[in-house]
Amino acid sequence: MRRICGAALMAGLLAASPPVVACAAAQPGVKGSAADMNARATRFADRPPIAFGTAWYPEHWPEERWEKDLAWMEKANFNTVRIAEFAWSTMEPREGEFDFEWLDRAIAAASRHGMMVVLGTPSAAPPAWMTQRYPDVLRVDEDGVRATHGGRRHFSFASERYRMFARRIAEKMAERYGDNPNVVGWQIDNEIGPPSFGPEAEERWHSFLEQRYGTIDTLNERWATEYWSQHYNNFGQIPLRATGQHNPGLLLDFKHFTTATWTDYVQNQLDAIRAHADPRQFVTTNTMFWNAGFDHYELHERLDLASWDNYIQDADPDWIANGANHDLVRGYKQRNFWLMETQAGRVDWVPINRALAPGQVREMGWQAVQHGADAILYWEFRAARNGQETYYGTVLGQDGTPAPIFNEIAKLGGELREAMPALADTEPVYRMAMLFDYDSRWALDLQRLHEDFDPIREFTDFYRPFRLGSQGVAVLPVDAELSAYPLVVAPALNVVTASDAERLEAYVRGGGHLVLGPRSGMKDDANALWPQRQPGPLEPLLGAQVEQFYALDQPVKLTGAFGAGEAAIWAEWLSPEAEDVEVLARYDDPAGWLDKKPAILSRPVGRGRITYVGAWLQPDMMRRLAEKLMADEGIGPILSTDSDDVEIGARSGAGKTVLIAINHGDEPQPLRSPVGAERIAGTVTNGALPAHGVAVFRVDRDMLSTSKGATH
Ligand code: GLA
Repeated sequence: MRRICGAALMAGLLAASPPVVACAAAQPGVKGSAADMNARATRFADRPPIAFGTAWYPEHWPEERWEKDLAWMEKANFNTVRIAEFAWSTMEPREGEFDFEWLDRAIAAASRHGMMVVLGTPSAAPPAWMTQRYPDVLRVDEDGVRATHGGRRHFSFASERYRMFARRIAEKMAERYGDNPNVVGWQIDNEIGPPSFGPEAEERWHSFLEQRYGTIDTLNERWATEYWSQHYNNFGQIPLRATGQHNPGLLLDFKHFTTATWTDYVQNQLDAIRAHADPRQFVTTNTMFWNAGFDHYELHERLDLASWDNYIQDADPDWIANGANHDLVRGYKQRNFWLMETQAGRVDWVPINRALAPGQVREMGWQAVQHGADAILYWEFRAARNGQETYYGTVLGQDGTPAPIFNEIAKLGGELREAMPALADTEPVYRMAMLFDYDSRWALDLQRLHEDFDPIREFTDFYRPFRLGSQGVAVLPVDAELSAYPLVVAPALNVVTASDAERLEAYVRGGGHLVLGPRSGMKDDANALWPQRQPGPLEPLLGAQVEQFYALDQPVKLTGAFGAGEAAIWAEWLSPEAEDVEVLARYDDPAGWLDKKPAILSRPVGRGRITYVGAWLQPDMMRRLAEKLMADEGIGPILSTDSDDVEIGARSGAGKTVLIAINHGDEPQPLRSPVGAERIAGTVTNGALPAHGVAVFRVDRDMLSTSKGATH
């Protein structure tokens, strides 16, 4: 029997295999369940299960105005504000001189209007008194140039002095607000990421490498430094600013180094907050989904919550890709997350800053909730009269009256309020999992071999048909507990360690179906080739190897038991070794080196199976393969739909299930409402979901378990 998380288990709406509800409490390294998270509150012991609100910068406005702005927030159905994240020069106008009285009043005013408060530490914006007196706190870029004052994120993540200042302001805030009953949580910094390359960073780099490898000989051996005479005599010789073509081992370790340095940077403020804050206040940092700067799994280990900032640059959301973004973030802690920022219409940093169409802001809000967001906060509330972002989309205009988007946001807020009792203590329903691994992503990006081999695009191309077919895909790190998932897909697990291989083998032998995509099992965690052919340490499990790989300048055709199609960008010639390896697809003839060679292999092992997909399949073929793999594992949709524009997903827990249907398209689409379900938000008109429409249903567990196939 595969392990399924006990209390959270519910049966599927279809006869297919039972869905897996996110097993937050059961995951290693996770401190509590979503229910525990909801208990984290002070005055808000009964706090709304979904936070809905905005970034508010009271320091931008005369105090007389605050009441009016907060009244508008109430009208928008907001219940949460995030304050202070860039207000360092207002909180500490001169070195060591603190002024928090305005913040006391802002928090009190917000709470009079029923707002929960999240406080941001201001370390993304060091004040001028500091950068002028202590220029060593400033960031140094890859060319050795120090940042100047006037923007933000101009600090060095390695500067001891900067960390001291950041810790002190975080500590002062925590001393003052750590037991404030209106403060529900903390956000450290803002969108951390750009590393610094100054002397302090260099020193940390050398000690990081020494800690990682112990001796310089080990490092030389793991990086194979005989190549081009790179041999190092001591750690102090190793360059930090490794621009141009450099050793892949060094380049991957640089990513490990930035991960360690950012984690430590965040920890510095986390310790200051934790020393004074009520443990029921959460601590998070807002991140940028696929940002390549650091390993987000590692950074989130000690934080209570993952939160992220979701912006649709061209205002033309690719709903499946955006769903993958949410799933990725939820996987950081395998727990519901906060959408700490999202756009109230348009952004201001792309060539054409188009606004989201009417209905799309609401649609994106429901999508976030469907994928496990327990908060939606808009950026930003009111257009600042000056500053770098005056043209951003906002909820109120600069004159303090509602922008056209206001009503749509207020409508979503009203719907969420109605749906909150149903959404409380629920988590997304997953029917399968995909693995996303930072080392693999970095290793591939560092040596793409085909300029279009973008590992995020490749991940998303795999994700697409699985999301459509299963309506619930967990995105997990490679060391996650996988036994709850009948199907686990790793689209390009380039870096595989011996212990990863052991865990994956145990998953397969225990009854799971592991699917590996092209370029899997090539490298170890020093970015060196495994001495055996791909998939390296997984070769014995697969009973086959990759004979050779080919970057493609034009698509190749292939044919399998599930039909014919094409692969582009990348194709591998697979070679079965064990007798029980099944060839699921072969390249057609003529395909040069690939003529008639196996392209997809599968092998039963123990109680499970391993499948290797050696090519980047084009969408049609990928979809057919995904459908076959899901059918083999008994995975079907939660609620069937005829249109790829319609997104279905569910959250479940505490004896109830909330089903969220979203039409992301421009035409109405038929929707078969689940039998006996209560519609708690949105509209279905003549059996159709309107264009950009949403319908939310509540069903109870009993109904689900007896509704085999009864989806209409
Ligand atoms: C980020 C920042 C915000 C704001 C938005 C605008 O998400 O966190 O302060 O600058 O970008 O896109």
